[in-house]
Amino acid sequence: MIKEEILKVLRESEDYVSGQELCEKFGVSRTAVWKAVTKLKEEGYEIDSISNRGYLLKTLADVVTEAEIGSRLKTKVMGKHCVCFGDVDSTNIQAKKLAEEGAPHGTLVCAESQSEGRGRRGKTWISPRGNAVYMSLLLRPRIRPEHASVLTLVMGMAAARACNELLRRTEEEAAGNRTEQARPRVGVKWPNDLVLDGRKTAGMLTEMSAEIDCIHYVIIGVGINVNEKDFPEELPQATSLRQAAGKRLMRAELIALCMEYFEKYYCEFEKTEDLRTLKDDYEELLVNKGRQVRVLEPGNEHVGTALGINEQGELLVELADGRTEKVYAGEVSVRGIYGYV
Ligand code: BTN
Repeated sequence: MIKEEILKVLRESEDYVSGQELCEKFGVSRTAVWKAVTKLKEEGYEIDSISNRGYLLKTLADVVTEAEIGSRLKTKVMGKHCVCFGDVDSTNIQAKKLAEEGAPHGTLVCAESQSEGRGRRGKTWISPRGNAVYMSLLLRPRIRPEHASVLTLVMGMAAARACNELLRRTEEEAAGNRTEQARPRVGVKWPNDLVLDGRKTAGMLTEMSAEIDCIHYVIIGVGINVNEKDFPEELPQATSLRQAAGKRLMRAELIALCMEYFEKYYCEFEKTEDLRTLKDDYEELLVNKGRQVRVLEPGNEHVGTALGINEQGELLVELADGRTEKVYAGEVSVRGIYGYV
């Protein structure tokens, strides 16, 4: 789309870009360029226009819009069809509606806020405006329904890698050169929470419509705390990427990175319908590994040491009697024995 292309050029330029240059670059009329710029201004971008010089994007806006995400996407499928809302009930609900209407595999739904944000096990996901990422990805995987829960782990890895990449870029900007992150700062608490400095920075809710042997669609909903300075008392375990980075981050950049990593990992997963080629990568991010965990299974609570995962994405827990138990990611919850991790 021309609007996204223009936004990308303006964002990457430090000086004014002439209307003529944009016309030639994209093979469109001056009116088309003017219309696209007017639309961007209406969406909240501060764009200076001077008659003989052209256009200059004055401030980078932390907005979650189709144009902002689309202008940053490098994927072939994931997020290419993107629908952004201001306020919405829940991006999972909207993604489901779109799925029922025939939206394609890889459709991404985002919102600035949610009035009915949903968490796992019937909990509410408090979703105020302005700081967080609320997104749902619609997939139509050609895999067996019993393999679908592994997709949450794939998204967990992708979202953790995306958060780490964004933190690395931010550090690099501050230091003025390329920095190597010694180890991932954002990890995964099996099966699907992201953890930063021992506190929760993101959660995932996967929902599926399927028959016994065929999936209609899967929705992976992801909520990431990005720019919150602090959290209400009732969320003592929560943290945000900003609390680690010390500055605001661009949510659209994070969303685009998530889509990029997810596409890469999803291609791997699709080949085998399991995690055989991704297991090592997942375990590098797994914060439970080697730790004592409490497995909260309805009617069966027990403690053991988390060893890692198997190819099916089950958590391997060594029990006191030496047996290794495989924990399946359904209704089970895993906690550290002394706290959240
Ligand atoms: C959890 O940790 O309990 C899962 C939280 C999932 C929240 C996200 S926000 C976007 C999507 N829409 C929802 O209603 N829920 C998920």
